Amino acid sequence: MKRNKIDGEAQKRLPRHVAIIMDGNGRWAKRRLMPRSYGHRKGMDRMIGLLEHAYDIGVPYVTVYALSTENLERPKEELDGLFDLIRTHFAEYMKKICARGVRLRILGDPSLLPADVAEIIRKAEEDSAGYEGKGLNIALAYGSRAEIVRAANIAVSRGKTLTEESFADLLYTGGLPDPDLVIRTGKEKRISNFLLWQAAYAEFYFSDKMFPEFSDGDFDEAMEAFSKRVRRFGKTDEQL
Ligand code: FPP
Repeated sequence: MKRNKIDGEAQKRLPRHVAIIMDGNGRWAKRRLMPRSYGHRKGMDRMIGLLEHAYDIGVPYVTVYALSTENLERPKEELDGLFDLIRTHFAEYMKKICARGVRLRILGDPSLLPADVAEIIRKAEEDSAGYEGKGLNIALAYGSRAEIVRAANIAVSRGKTLTEESFADLLYTGGLPDPDLVIRTGKEKRISNFLLWQAAYAEFYFSDKMFPEFSDGDFDEAMEAFSKRVRRFGKTDEQL
């Protein structure tokens, strides 16, 4: 494990699962008078750097929000830029990340993506299927309400009464631990249809930094902040 700057207490109390809303690529690029697609390119590089860092310091599960169902309404040029990034870089990047024993799972509806892009991500998922213990979830063409409705429809078709646990198993994240910490970059403070069910007891951390400039050190600051949070899960201090 890599030596890092987070203190001993934060290292002992790392979240098991961190979810990241990678917001601010467009604004970051605009400030540099560059097209939004340049921001996404830099964002993808930063995403890979942060993933390596997170696994290095000992966070076993990471979920990143790469494209929402609502984002699919963006101008064709921007979407084509994002899909081209997947076409040109995704397989190589995922090979690098998954080689650390990380299992990749895509959260979302691949039928909303161009067929060749859907195939690239399917293949990357398949290639990492043998790994367990560490996970990377990439939310792509993802919407949490759609995910919940999809799970409810599966439940209805099976005609069974559900528990919270059996319902959670029908979500894209079935079998994975819930996120302990949700980080959102880019100054906004909202959830944007992300992991609504799964983040029921997550802690939230907001950064004013745009995603391409959110450094490993900034991630460590989020770990420090998390380690100081008292999670009561609805109970009193005395009950903990
Ligand atoms: C939100 O910022 C970011 C996105 C919609 C795309 C996120 C994508 C990446 C970080 C890289 C690509 C990764 C994969 C796996 C394809 P925004 O563009 O809405 O920024 P803004 O709020 O400043 O406009």
